[in-house]
Amino acid sequence: MNTVVVGLQWGDEGKGKIIDYLCREKDVIVRFQGGNNAGHTVVINGKKFVFHLIPSGILRKGKICVIGKGVVIDPQVLIDEINYLKKQEIDVSPENLKISPFAHVIMPYHRIMDACREKQRIQKIGTTKRGIGPCYVDKIARCGIRMADLINKESFSLKLRDNLREKNPLFEKVYGFKGFEFKEIFEQYQEFARKLAPYVCDLVEFFWKKKNSNFLFEGAQGTFLDVDFGTYPFVTSSSTVSSNALAGSGFSFVKVDQVLGVSKAYTTRVGEGPFPTELKDDTGKYFQSKGNEFGATTGRPRRCGWLDLVLLRRAKILNNVKKIILTKLDVLDGLEKIKVCIDYKIGGSLIKSFPFDLSGAVPVYETLSGWNENIENVRNYKQLPQAAKKYIKRIEDYLECEVEYVSVGQMRDAIIKKSV
Ligand code: GDP
Ligand code: IMO
Ligand code: MG
Repeated sequence: MNTVVVGLQWGDEGKGKIIDYLCREKDVIVRFQGGNNAGHTVVINGKKFVFHLIPSGILRKGKICVIGKGVVIDPQVLIDEINYLKKQEIDVSPENLKISPFAHVIMPYHRIMDACREKQRIQKIGTTKRGIGPCYVDKIARCGIRMADLINKESFSLKLRDNLREKNPLFEKVYGFKGFEFKEIFEQYQEFARKLAPYVCDLVEFFWKKKNSNFLFEGAQGTFLDVDFGTYPFVTSSSTVSSNALAGSGFSFVKVDQVLGVSKAYTTRVGEGPFPTELKDDTGKYFQSKGNEFGATTGRPRRCGWLDLVLLRRAKILNNVKKIILTKLDVLDGLEKIKVCIDYKIGGSLIKSFPFDLSGAVPVYETLSGWNENIENVRNYKQLPQAAKKYIKRIEDYLECEVEYVSVGQMRDAIIKKSV
């Protein structure tokens, strides 16, 4: 069974934890887009692992993890991640970590460009400043540097020279930033190349032979950060929806059997952009502190709000979601009432179809009962409070889509399969 897992909101839905759980029954786990803007958390026996580039399946023995061609790679971050895992005695080697030669490399000028652009913009995006956008720009402009180029000294030298010829005057004249030295970058990246070359391989041939394995595609970010379908321009620079899983990995000979969508039991967003159900009151602060809503990559506080079913319905359609995985239900413990957004009002009238622009959307809420119990230790669906089950049922009915798993805590085993 080949499964794609995507976030249905604005990222940080708990995908890392879910991937770690689901990959027990998979052979190959593939990241297909994004870069180290992602932060996927897995907590095992109280120990926290945050993955930025390596698929979250690396913690399970015998799995092959793949960084596909649609990912952009900051080599320093990847090397740090490999070293960290090795220190924790997690097996990482060219046997179980494979990198596409066609994945693009994030260069120092991408990170600086990301920060400079943000600084100059009147309408800020609130990027992670990891150089993600500028790296994808260069890929499409055909001046990018791929992993295949990084590990080829002549090709790397030529491409780096060409890039600096174009970019240094731009940095100096437009951003008032001193240009980059060829030698410094060249030497540093040659060192990266030496360390990463063993992991780069022809994935197409390798996986063609393994095409009957069970694949798990690990989405990063979330549906509404998609460069096309998201809340543009407050989005990331890659396609985050399920249709990109095969394109971004390059394994079009693999058939996707199902798409699972991960959603929090409420909504969060990091960075700028519209967020109709955002709560700037005490309830928002309650979610933030109880859910520990601080970015796994940048540490920024996440904006919090009620669950938005209008948004989720759109995400379900866009990703062709078969089943939903609802996370962080435990964060709602102790709330007397819980609201869910079931419609938007725009300019005073109820809208029937999803708007092109979310910025003017005012949420219309339905109020449900909360529960007092602490559900973190519940492992059987039947033992959840009635009100929690009603909340889940309302979500299922609205979305016409079943919730398959409910996550009730950070720990690896804090997950409930709904139908046993
Ligand atoms: P991802 O980017 O989608 O993988 O999500 P992040 O790792 O950035 O953020 C999710 C956070 O919620 C992490 O700190 C997880 O450890 C935590 N988490 C995941 N599932 C649950 C859950 O069911 N309950 C609680 N309380 N925390 C959870
Ligand atoms: P995971 O995989 C949440 C957000 C940034 C910013 C916007 C653009 O952990 O769910 P970028 O650096 O990509 O150009 O920033 O996208 N963003 C995320 N928000 N989770 C993520 O990843 C994100 N990756 C990017 O905060 O608003
Ligand atoms: Mg995250």
